[in-house]
Amino acid sequence: MTVKLTPEHKMLLALASKAQANAHAPYSNFHVGAAILDENAQLHASCNVENAAYPLGQCAEAGAISAMIATGSKHIKQILIASPNDDFCPPCGGCRQKIAEFADAQTEVHLATQQGEIKTVKFTELLPLAFGFDKDE
Ligand code: THU
Repeated sequence: MTVKLTPEHKMLLALASKAQANAHAPYSNFHVGAAILDENAQLHASCNVENAAYPLGQCAEAGAISAMIATGSKHIKQILIASPNDDFCPPCGGCRQKIAEFADAQTEVHLATQQGEIKTVKFTELLPLAFGFDKDE
């Protein structure tokens, strides 16, 4: 399937891929990048950061959210997750809840393969009935 990439897709993909190249993932060797477009048209990106104490590792999405919050923005309009292979890398359950904190019913989640194929879903499709999510309009 060929999906026409919007300028937002291209910017998010470029930034997520750049962060992905810096992933610290020596334990899983699974390098992930994430990039956010916020309500102020600012972009934020990060990668996964693993730790020798495995449970302390952080997903790429969590880092991108922290970067957004640190600039004073509060809303995820779009988030793109760059996979290291030909399969999409949908956010883990914990990251879906972290995204929910700053998402609304319009928030789009773009899943990108290493080849640059992109599939877009609404955040609410990924986490219906999210705890604490009362932003339906
Ligand atoms: N990972 C992410 O960074 N984001 C995801 O959406 C899924 C998984 C990371 C966590 C860990 O460092 C590695 O990928 C393998 O699970």
